[in-house]
Amino acid sequence: MVARAKITTLTEFIIQRQSEYPHAKGALTRLLNDIATAAKIVNREINAAGLVDILGTAGKENIQGEAQKKLDVFANDMFITALKGGGECCAIASEENEKVISFSNEFSEMGKYVVAMDPLDGSSNIESNVSIGTIFSIYRRITEVGGGTSEDLLQPGVNLVAAGYVIYGSSTMLVYTTGKGVNGFTLDPSVGIFCLSHPDMQFPAQSKIYSINEGNYIYFPEGVKQYIKYCQQDDVSTHRPYTSRYIGSLVADFHRNLIKGGIFLYPGTKKQPDGKLRLLYECNPIAFLAEQAGGKASNGFKRIMEIDPETLHQRAPFFVGPREMVEQVESYMQQYA
Ligand code: AHG
Ligand code: MN
Ligand code: MN
Repeated sequence: MVARAKITTLTEFIIQRQSEYPHAKGALTRLLNDIATAAKIVNREINAAGLVDILGTAGKENIQGEAQKKLDVFANDMFITALKGGGECCAIASEENEKVISFSNEFSEMGKYVVAMDPLDGSSNIESNVSIGTIFSIYRRITEVGGGTSEDLLQPGVNLVAAGYVIYGSSTMLVYTTGKGVNGFTLDPSVGIFCLSHPDMQFPAQSKIYSINEGNYIYFPEGVKQYIKYCQQDDVSTHRPYTSRYIGSLVADFHRNLIKGGIFLYPGTKKQPDGKLRLLYECNPIAFLAEQAGGKASNGFKRIMEIDPETLHQRAPFFVGPREMVEQVESYMQQYA
C-alpha cells in the first residue's frame, strides 16, 4: 500500500494555532469554523446554481443601489445564520444590509467578536460561471455588553484579529490570516473538508500582472494613467510589458495576483472619488492578507489599514499587491496629485 502524506484539515490547523496562545478559550477557533461551515453550504448552492432556481436577481436592491442576486441573498442569510447560531459574534456588517445586524439574544451578546463581510463578491459573474468569492473580517468588540453596535465595526484595519476569503473557483479554497502569515485550504468535495494546500502564502519575487477595469481609463486620475503606461512599456530588466488580467471579482483577481504576482487597482474617479470598493468588508480584509503575504495596500496616499472608517459602507480607492508594485503606483499618484 502507498503511504499517504499526512493531511492537515482546517480545523486541525486552527486548533494547532490556538494552542500557541495558552489563554485562548477557543472562541476564534469556533468563529472561523462557523464561517467555514457557511462557506461549504454556499459552495454547494453555487455548484448547483444552474440546476436549481437560484440564478438571477432577487428583485431587490442593496444599500449600494445594486441589484441583489438570489445568491447574494442566499449567501448573506447563510453567513448570518451561522454566525448568529455560533455564539461568538455579537454583530455583523454586511454589504447586503444597510445597518449593523446586532445579536442581542442571551447567547450571542456574550460574543467577543464582530464580523464585517461581503457574502458574495463578484456577483455579476454568477451567470457566466466565473469565479466568485466571500470576504470576511473579524474584530474584537469595543462595547462591553449587549448586542454589538456600529462602534464595534467602525474600526481601522490595523485592529483586525483575522480576515480571509473563500474563492468558489475551479476548486473552492479558504484563505485566511490571523496576523501570522497567510494559509490556504482547498475543499476536498468528496468529504467536504478544507485541507491545507497552500501553507504560508507569499507574493512571488517576480511580478508581472496588472489588473484594472481599463474600460474606465478615461476617468482615471493622471497618476493611474501614467502607471498603466509604465506597465505597458518595453523593459526586459523589469519584465515589462506586464500582462493584463481582469476577472471583475476582487477575490478572484487578488487570489490570482497573490499566486502569480500582480497588482490590483480600483482607483477613484472624478465622479466617484473613493472608487467602488468598500473599505470595511472588501479593502481592509484583502489589505490585511496582502500585508501578511509580504505585499502592500494603499489608497494611493495612505495605508488602507490605517484609514479610520466613518460609515459602514464607505468606499476607498484601492491598490493592492506586491510591495514594489504598489509603491510604484503611489509614486505616480503623488507625482500627479
Ligand atoms: P460585489 O459583487 O460584492 O458587489 O463586488 C464587485 C466588485 C469587486 O468584486 C470587483 O473587483 C469590482 O466590483 C468590479 O467592478 P467593475 O465591474 O466596475 O470593474
Ligand atoms: Mn464585493
Ligand atoms: Mn458582494
